[in-house]
Amino acid sequence: MTKSVVVLTGASSGIGEATARLLAQIPNLSLVLVARNQQKLKQLAQDLKQTRDLDVLVYPLDLTQLESIPDLVEAVRAKFGRLDVLLHVAGMGDFKPALEQELKNVETQFQVNTLSGIALLQAAGRQMVTQGEGKLLVVASMSAKLPTPQSSVYAASKSAINTYASVLGMELEPLGIPVTVVNPGPVRTPFFKHSSAMQDYIKNVDRFAMDADQVAQKLVDLVVRTGPMPREVNLPFTMRLAYLGQRFFPGLACWLTVRFANFK
Ligand SMILES: NC(=O)c1ccc[n+]([C@@H]2O[C@H](COP(=O)([O-])OP(=O)(O)OC[C@H]3O[C@@H](n4cnc5c(N)ncnc54)[C@H](OP(=O)(O)O)[C@@H]3O)[C@@H](O)[C@H]2O)c1
Repeated sequence: MTKSVVVLTGASSGIGEATARLLAQIPNLSLVLVARNQQKLKQLAQDLKQTRDLDVLVYPLDLTQLESIPDLVEAVRAKFGRLDVLLHVAGMGDFKPALEQELKNVETQFQVNTLSGIALLQAAGRQMVTQGEGKLLVVASMSAKLPTPQSSVYAASKSAINTYASVLGMELEPLGIPVTVVNPGPVRTPFFKHSSAMQDYIKNVDRFAMDADQVAQKLVDLVVRTGPMPREVNLPFTMRLAYLGQRFFPGLACWLTVRFANFK
């Protein structure tokens, strides 16, 4: 039986690492682990191979190096002959007032969250069109749907990848290649380690926060799903409800957000 080849970005930490550990339990699957931290990826690959004889390729890559992204897909094609699922999880954010976002930092957030996503979706999408099948999955964020103060750049970068993926889905779905965006609310991961403001934020929203394993399980369900794929998955349920409220009553939602959901 041909093995499914899954390329997972962001595999060195948080949601990506949790997803890699769950994917490793699925039979007939080859895994490509992508992130910058080669040492963590190698250690993870070693751990996963202890569970069972898993085909794992470690591919260290800084996603801000956009021109290197097609090489990743070419390396996967050269080793496995195909690419069945792209699961793009890597991302970063920096929460601070909109007027205080340094332009260098704005550039990095857009490079990692938006431009690398577009480059990955393009490179993987082209391979899948050649194969005639495949599945594209992107982790964006609920902040794209329900932006809150101090998340201006992060929310904008995630909103942009949401829109790109949505249009790509319209173009590729008729070719049998679904595109799904997953928008999680707050998740307890090292994502928030970068500044004390971010550490305070995740503490303040702890009662709404999910564990990385919960999001990872949702992603794995989507990877193995054989029926029609959703275009968008918003988690958790409470945030899905809040998003619906925001769509119908945007002015009220904005007022409520500033007064009652300003946790940063
Ligand atoms: N945690 C949350 O509350 C939350 C909520 C909604 C959405 N998300 C999204 O979920 C995804 C995973 O986040 P997480 O919470 O698991 O955070 P995390 O633990 O900080 O993991 C982020 C991952 O992205 C990789 N990454 C960051 N910059 C990169 C770069 N320049 N090149 C290659 N890889 C890079 C990191 O690997 P290296 O450092 O090794 O490169 C790491 O594996 C992100 O897209 C994030 O925006 C998170």
